[in-house]
Amino acid sequence: MRAAVWYEAGSEVIEYHDDVEVDNPGPGEVKVKIHAAGVCHSDLSAMNGTLPQPAPAILGHEGAGEVIAVGEGAADIAVGDHVIIAWTPPCGQCKACLRGEANLCVNIMFNIAGSTHFSRGGTPLFGFVGTGTFAEELVVPRQAVVKMAEDVPYEIGALIGCGVTTGVGAALNTAKVKPGSNVVVFGAGGVGVAAIQGARIAGAAEIVAVDTIDSKLEDAKRFGATRGVKPEQLDDASGEITGGEGFDYAFECVGVAATFRAAWDATRRGGTTVIVGAGRQDAVLELNGFELFFSEKKLLGSYYGSADVRTEFHRLIRLWRAGRIDLEGMISARMPLEEVGAGITALQSGEIIRQIVTF
Ligand SMILES: NC(=O)c1ccc[n+]([C@@H]2O[C@H](COP(=O)([O-])OP(=O)(O)OC[C@H]3O[C@@H](n4cnc5c(N)ncnc54)[C@H](O)[C@@H]3O)[C@@H](O)[C@H]2O)c1
Ligand SMILES: [Zn+2]
Ligand SMILES: [Zn+2]
Repeated sequence: MRAAVWYEAGSEVIEYHDDVEVDNPGPGEVKVKIHAAGVCHSDLSAMNGTLPQPAPAILGHEGAGEVIAVGEGAADIAVGDHVIIAWTPPCGQCKACLRGEANLCVNIMFNIAGSTHFSRGGTPLFGFVGTGTFAEELVVPRQAVVKMAEDVPYEIGALIGCGVTTGVGAALNTAKVKPGSNVVVFGAGGVGVAAIQGARIAGAAEIVAVDTIDSKLEDAKRFGATRGVKPEQLDDASGEITGGEGFDYAFECVGVAATFRAAWDATRRGGTTVIVGAGRQDAVLELNGFELFFSEKKLLGSYYGSADVRTEFHRLIRLWRAGRIDLEGMISARMPLEEVGAGITALQSGEIIRQIVTF
């Protein structure tokens, strides 16, 4: 089958092959034919070492497709089912799953991230976080697929598989944005505009998008930002909107130390800073002892939208069907698999919301 293969840690080169092999599904596993895959900044972060990922690997973790084979014991899923890939699959049995924090389940993810279902010429190939949606087919545990109705376009399913769940979930689940609040979102990529949409449906009064690129600020307004500002204009906007007190909620959707700090600084005393961006291990946020207690700010990490994929993917589809979130509008470009490498590196220019690989 065709797949895009990344061979070397630190390199941004991807090679395309039509002779990549994928295993048949073992017990409890399913094989999925991928029909659409989104390009997320985390794919770029795997290549440049921001996120740990062994090579050689097939990247891509945002995707949707059709089940084409089912292993023993995966009785509740059938060939022909349309599914969204979940890159942190809930096992359903661990402490995190049982206390309602399914996104924090690592039982399956840690296991599949280190195993290989792909190979080429006898060389095993990893899949990014155990998935690998930049391939025509992949094999994952049953828990890593969530069924969706057949009339939902695959590209909509793909977006929900990471960026939309992450951003909307950060607003609805992690921060629990209250109606009437003032919100600022740093970074208007796929995750950021999803956070903006989440804040909008939660009833935020003002939503300020902060980005370094003018076109992204215009994009952000299409999704509900009431204002778009460059980083250096934020203090003025905060003065006008919050009287200088700061925002009730600040979402960091970039993943670098400067914006971790900027998001914290933009938050009012008693407000909530949410770190959604996935930064390097050496991207350090420094907070001093006085500001920590005196500001009483809440600093929250947000992983996969604090969502349980088994219910959240369906909720997002309902919101999309009802026209309450715009997912089609998030698609900046569609491209064949053979252009995904350029698509990933194009994220560095920051001019893209989401690109979709079509097969
Ligand atoms: N927490 C999670 O579970 C999770 C899941 C998916 C993605 N992520 C992370 O979320 C982040 C965003 O992902 P994405 O796919 O939306 O990325 P993206 O590249 O599409 O968007 C990032 C945006 O940030 C802007 N930006 C860059 N520097 C900035 C600065 N200093 N100030 C303001 N804006 C700036 C860029 O112009 C761009 O518009 C990444 O770090 C990604 O790895 C986290
Ligand atoms: Zn992602
Ligand atoms: Zn679990």
